[in-house]
Amino acid sequence: MRLVLVGPPGAGKGTQAQFIASHLSIPKISTGDIFRSNVSQGTALGRRAQAFMERGDLVPDEVTIAMVTDRLQEDDAQSGYLLDGFPRNVPQAETLKKLLSAWDARLDVVLELVVDDDEVVRRLSGRRTCRRCGRIWHVLFDPPAHREICDDCGGELFQRDDDREETIRHRIEVYQEQTAPLVAFYADEGILLGIDATGPVEEITERALSALRRFIRLPRAAGTVEAAVAEREMRMPSDPKLRCSDADRERTVALLREHLAAGRLTAEEFNERLEAAFAARTQGQLDELLADLPAIDLYELPDATVRRSWPGYGQLPWGRRSG
Ligand code: AP5
Repeated sequence: MRLVLVGPPGAGKGTQAQFIASHLSIPKISTGDIFRSNVSQGTALGRRAQAFMERGDLVPDEVTIAMVTDRLQEDDAQSGYLLDGFPRNVPQAETLKKLLSAWDARLDVVLELVVDDDEVVRRLSGRRTCRRCGRIWHVLFDPPAHREICDDCGGELFQRDDDREETIRHRIEVYQEQTAPLVAFYADEGILLGIDATGPVEEITERALSALRRFIRLPRAAGTVEAAVAEREMRMPSDPKLRCSDADRERTVALLREHLAAGRLTAEEFNERLEAAFAARTQGQLDELLADLPAIDLYELPDATVRRSWPGYGQLPWGRRSG
């Protein structure tokens, strides 16, 4: 599985990445960790990145992309990985897409961790990281038994240079300007999952894993109300005004067709909803069209796909428009 975690600084990407990657038995690749390790070793890469990191700015794309391209070719990354902190802007996302396509691969899913700015500042100002194993702690929310020592490996804990309040605020601005547009980018690709990243760490891990399981394989039996709710939650964009993509419309229409075939919708009802799906501009409007119907497991349908290869796609007005 090739997975990306996206979210503002302090959303818990590093915290969740360590648990999710270990659960899925894939390596966690954190560009922030790689840069920090190079800074502490005084390498040429570290010297180049240091000033940008201390200011809370992004390291230039050419440096970051070259570093990630090398890392993705290492042996442990051949059967999947979890990317934490990359891509960080649309040009990086486009480059990653081209790179993967050249290797005959693609991302499976992008998981967005949604938290508000005040929570971010609370979290980052109390963060401590282990110098030896990289384990992330928080002085209040996830404290180690001894203030400056990692419970897991006995390593020394340190506070990151970019976790000063003024730098945190700047990093949030950089996120809003440069990284947040990735949410729309990946929603358009049809591979975005958004989860609420507030609450206890273990609950968020469980939320993330169950959303991922449904998105990748959707193994549960179809037809329960819980499945319908869960499916809508996992598709919910963080911004309620975020426009729905062609892939979202396509998926909704595929489901409406199944309900028509199963006799849960009359032809007239189906046509009305088809029109509404065509007119919908947000994921919320699409969800409304399925709200009173039982959930269907797309992956259990014989011709089911969430991608544009869906057989009916070319006959739909938006399918024709996109070619
Ligand atoms: P990076 O290391 O990626 O930093 P970031 O994105 O700003 O994210 P953070 O690591 O600060 O936060 P996080 O979401 O991982 O939160 P965490 O789990 O630690 O990047 C650093 C710098 O490197 C960038 O500014 C840039 O200069 C450069 N860089 C990196 N990638 C780049 C790229 N692709 N392009 C260009 N430049 C790049 O959690 C935070 C705290 O909250 C912890 O203390 C944790 O214990 C606590 N916490 C976590 N979850 C919870 C919870 N549920 N409840 C309470 N507390 C919690």
